Amino acid sequence: MKRLIFIGVAAVSLGFGGWYWWGLTRSGSMTADVNTVKTTATQLVAAEVFRTPTCGCCGLWIDHAEAHNFTVVDHQQEDLTPIKEQYGITPELASCHTTIVDGYVFEGHIPATEVQRFLANPPKDVIGLTVPGMPIGSPGMEMANKSQPYAVLALHRNGSTSVFAEY
Ligand code: CU
Ligand code: CU
Repeated sequence: MKRLIFIGVAAVSLGFGGWYWWGLTRSGSMTADVNTVKTTATQLVAAEVFRTPTCGCCGLWIDHAEAHNFTVVDHQQEDLTPIKEQYGITPELASCHTTIVDGYVFEGHIPATEVQRFLANPPKDVIGLTVPGMPIGSPGMEMANKSQPYAVLALHRNGSTSVFAEY
């Protein structure tokens, strides 16, 4: 049964995320344009999203973010390795898309409210948040009434992680 679930998740990931199944370790550098915006839940969040052109669930996450007062610049590119590497997103921590707000990184299908909670009071020595993989039921990954438990992890500057929220 576990195996069947895994195959299902893998199929969904390939269909939606594509890039998430990444085996490349090309290096590169990129400078993200970052707006300096102080944020509360009701203020606009100026976000830069990096995703592959074929990623459907990425577009659904952008819809979710825009419904929560995010303004999104949607960068579609084939190779997301440079942006992941710039922000220290290892394959274990990676998802399908990478969002940059105010110099912080938000990886994957993070609920917009958690991004806003983070930005309202950014923890010291934390560079951002991630939801690794693509959990079913997270924003942009809704599938009927199915859902998997998942955690939003804080990414510490020293490379460690801690739980920021659980769903
Ligand atoms: Cu995705
Ligand atoms: Cu995505």
